[in-house]
Amino acid sequence: MVVVDHDTQVLRQADWFIEIGPGSGRDGGTVIAEGTLAGIGGDKNSRIGGFLTGREDILVRARPDADDVFKTGRIQVRTAPLHTVHALDLDIPRGRLTAVSGASGSGKTTLVLESLVPALKAHAAGAELPSHVRELIADGITRVNVVDASPIGINVRSTVATYSGVLDDLRRAYAATPAARDRGLKAGDFSYNTGSLRCPTCEGTGHIELDVQFLPDVDIVCPDCEGRRYAPEADAIRRTPQGSDDEPGPTLPELLACTVAQAVEHVGDLKKVRSRLQILQDLGLGYLTLGEATPALSGGETQRLKLASELDRDQHDALFVLDEPSVGLHPLDVRVLLTVLERLVDHGATVVFIEHDLEMIANADHVVDLGPGGGVDGGRIVATGTPEQVAHSADSVTSRYLRDVLNRPSARRSRP
Ligand SMILES: Nc1ncnc2c1ncn2[C@@H]1O[C@H](COP(=O)(O)OP(=O)(O)OP(=O)(O)O)[C@@H](O)[C@H]1O
Ligand SMILES: [Mg+2]
Ligand SMILES: [Zn+2]
Repeated sequence: MVVVDHDTQVLRQADWFIEIGPGSGRDGGTVIAEGTLAGIGGDKNSRIGGFLTGREDILVRARPDADDVFKTGRIQVRTAPLHTVHALDLDIPRGRLTAVSGASGSGKTTLVLESLVPALKAHAAGAELPSHVRELIADGITRVNVVDASPIGINVRSTVATYSGVLDDLRRAYAATPAARDRGLKAGDFSYNTGSLRCPTCEGTGHIELDVQFLPDVDIVCPDCEGRRYAPEADAIRRTPQGSDDEPGPTLPELLACTVAQAVEHVGDLKKVRSRLQILQDLGLGYLTLGEATPALSGGETQRLKLASELDRDQHDALFVLDEPSVGLHPLDVRVLLTVLERLVDHGATVVFIEHDLEMIANADHVVDLGPGGGVDGGRIVATGTPEQVAHSADSVTSRYLRDVLNRPSARRSRP
């Protein structure tokens, strides 16, 4: 039996490991370690080994004291029973990180996605609350953002460059070059979707469909532009960053073929583009190429890309909701995700995530634990408070596991 997984509890049961890496995208793709649990646990090249043996620390961020958690305000929801979930009174601290935990079927999704989110959306729109929501107090929250791992864009026209918003600025910057002005090219001409410089063969998608008789259509890389989406005329227009009198910089198709990390080097003079790319790099996405089609990104990459566009604005009026964001993520990626959520909170956002991952729960400012079991055995709030408070609750099943994690001698704060 072959299992592809990140979950350390599942992995620990395997007889043999094959680890691929070391990084992601261009930085991965090789076998970095192979062996039994003991072998991989002691292998310096392994990146998962430490998480399997417990050698790797649990990192817990600096969090407010229990008395201060609600000082920034609160969102209050009172619901009537729904499915097997009982009537609930829920308090969520504003501008904080809240984890909703509990056994499978205990009512987490029902509470958050069927009650809290629709109620807040109705509230923000000035509409009537859903019938099973009796009361909602959420003054000042006007935006609700459910961030899932579903693909971005259904067609290949959405790329890292368009989704992150840098292509518009790049098009303007290329239109401002002397070479473009000589040819009378405007920013619109540099659009691979509608511009005059797009590859006419594939109409800027980089791919064409081959109609093979009696067989389903085959999708192949465009033979003319080789996936670059642009016509040869675009190769004549280079852009040299202001202030550098070195060799001429890359063309736009060349820039789109660069990784985020490489592209940063070429856009030093474009402040907005540079800061957007810098955020992607901070989120561990520096290995993506700008021209990469977003529908093909992995769930975790997609989730981080969606959050990236939110990291450079004030978020005091926003609630972010994530249902099990750590699913499918490597333990190292879970940490990156936590830093992203932390940055959102630093910008004033109220963040609520549903989680089973104990490191994620231990890092929340506030925990709402549902249960005690699933279905008719669940549906109540059994414990709520800081992770430490929930860890010492008598009624919660989560508490025992959370206590183990928080008591580990290696638990330490990632920020002073
Ligand atoms: N549309 C529905 N109709 C009837 N019962 C439902 C419906 N949706 C959920 N339930 C039931 O309500 C209970 C809570 O479900 P919910 O999806 O909220 O659990 P959960 O805590 O999110 O679980 P998991 O961790 O598995 O995602 C379960 O017993 C479930 O079977
Ligand atoms: Mg659920
Ligand atoms: Zn083409």
